[in-house]
Amino acid sequence: MTQPISKLRSVVVGVGSYLPERRVSNADLEKFVDTTDEWIVQRTGIRARHIAAEGETTSMLATKAAQRALDAAGLGPNDIDLIVLGTSTPDFTFPSSATQVQAALGMTRGVAFDVQAVCSGFVFAVATADKFLISGSHKRALVIGAETFSRLVDWKDRTTCVLFGDGAGAIVLEAQEGQGTVADRGVLTSHLRSDGRHREKLYVDGGPSTTGTTGHLRMAGKEVFRHAVGMVTDVMTDAFAATGYTAADLDWFVPHQANERIIDASAQKLGIASEKIVKTVCDHGNTSAASIPLALATACADGRIKKGDLVMIEAMGGGFTWGSALIRW
Ligand code: UT7
Repeated sequence: MTQPISKLRSVVVGVGSYLPERRVSNADLEKFVDTTDEWIVQRTGIRARHIAAEGETTSMLATKAAQRALDAAGLGPNDIDLIVLGTSTPDFTFPSSATQVQAALGMTRGVAFDVQAVCSGFVFAVATADKFLISGSHKRALVIGAETFSRLVDWKDRTTCVLFGDGAGAIVLEAQEGQGTVADRGVLTSHLRSDGRHREKLYVDGGPSTTGTTGHLRMAGKEVFRHAVGMVTDVMTDAFAATGYTAADLDWFVPHQANERIIDASAQKLGIASEKIVKTVCDHGNTSAASIPLALATACADGRIKKGDLVMIEAMGGGFTWGSALIRW
């Protein structure tokens, strides 16, 4: 008789998020940007975004989301031995924002570091933390996506500034014994990709080693759009192939929230039913690495995502970077 092989899995035991207080509607933007609510809604599905207050930094947003995720898990900061924070808008060039979160939480053990994969940052952070946890080297991880893109956009460029917002979301992953089958709870598979040849389509025109300034976000929107659907559906197809699951098996599809048209086209291409899609782009705009954990937190809080559900996350962003992860909640 074959014995079931036990295997460590990274299981979600807590979720939290935080949005800055200030909500900016499309109508608010119309007052200082040459744009219209109609254009923004029609092209993107975005109706509002939250903008960080003066002095409110990425690590502050991240700390609030992380504290909420810890509270939801019933854990304290020293129950955690790993923080992986996805961000492209760190408080400082160094030290990492993750170490600032570590200090703010009062966590005095373990290790904290940032990963930088722009809008794919949270998927990259989940995949990274998963590899630490399933190796047995670490027991519990805070995985965070946090951004203040309002500081990176050029508020005089209407083609980009209307798209982005600020926020943070976090999950706690815990290493637990599974059976080694795809019926286990936890991260079942993850698939990361990048292709640096696409830099000029989505980049920031500054940095410590070039201009010595932070710079501003620049995007060839149409070009990015053109690549996005193919790239994210490729890595979701990889996740299905690795597990044997199909679109019909998913309970929830929680994509990166950049543009409602990209989300719908990706779901349609893979035959994911529209009622399974979690969309928050309407209220949050594109919060880059924060968008998926913000959407996860929303769908957990309103009772949609429940223990045992099969959840697909995916994202694509500057680099290009792209990736997916299939998680049994
Ligand atoms: O998260 C990382 C990944 N990023 C993305 O996924 C973003 C991908 N790209 C997109 O979401 C879309 O390409 C955009 C929303 C950025 C743009 O939508 P589009 O349908 O590709 O529009 P477009 O860039 O072709 O612009 C169409 C028109 C232009 O006018 P003309 O040249 O046709 O007269 C623009 O000048 O819309 C104009 N326009 C605006 N009008 C009002 C551009 N921005 C605005 C604006 N308000 N804010």
